[in-house]
Amino acid sequence: MLTMKRLSQEEFTVADSATRFDIYAGIHKALRAMMMETLRATGCADVHDASELHAVYEGVLELADTCATHLEHENEFIHPLLEATRMGSSARIATEHTHHLAALANLCDAAASLRICTTGPEREKAAHALYRELALFVGENFTHMYVEETEHNRVLWASFSDDELRALERRIAASLPPEESQQIMRWMVPAMTPAERAMLLRAKMK
Ligand SMILES: [Fe+2]
Repeated sequence: MLTMKRLSQEEFTVADSATRFDIYAGIHKALRAMMMETLRATGCADVHDASELHAVYEGVLELADTCATHLEHENEFIHPLLEATRMGSSARIATEHTHHLAALANLCDAAASLRICTTGPEREKAAHALYRELALFVGENFTHMYVEETEHNRVLWASFSDDELRALERRIAASLPPEESQQIMRWMVPAMTPAERAMLLRAKMK
């Protein structure tokens, strides 16, 4: 059970990110890797090849699903703690999450539009439109994750111990269905440093 301490402005100090447990680090590395790979693959796909077209469609849908699930976890598990500790501290990111859900729905629509194009020129145009929308989404998310890793962590580190934050991470991980957990590990493990990977795998084997 997490214990919470309400912070006054004076008590609010910046913790050292090099020495504290970062609850966002692993999952955000996974998301960045997935976003970069999906964007790269969408940008260079031969959409006249049925299998490449299908891979682009599936890749965008998988990314959209992963991002939507991830932000729901943040809303459910992390934001209530931030608000209980410092009212308003999750407001900016919560608003961005709402915008991200709309952007994800648009990306899925753009991917579906690409799939049903019947002529070559239509398909190329739709593929480029999808690529551009995806690039914008990825760019916005890189800034968004940076804010979470700095501003949100600053509040979390001032209020909770590393053991409490690790316990929170375990609660989030335990809430994932096995297939979702496996899917995110596929991106997370290769995106980590060897030391982070060893720590993650040791914790999984406990
Ligand atoms: Fe987020």
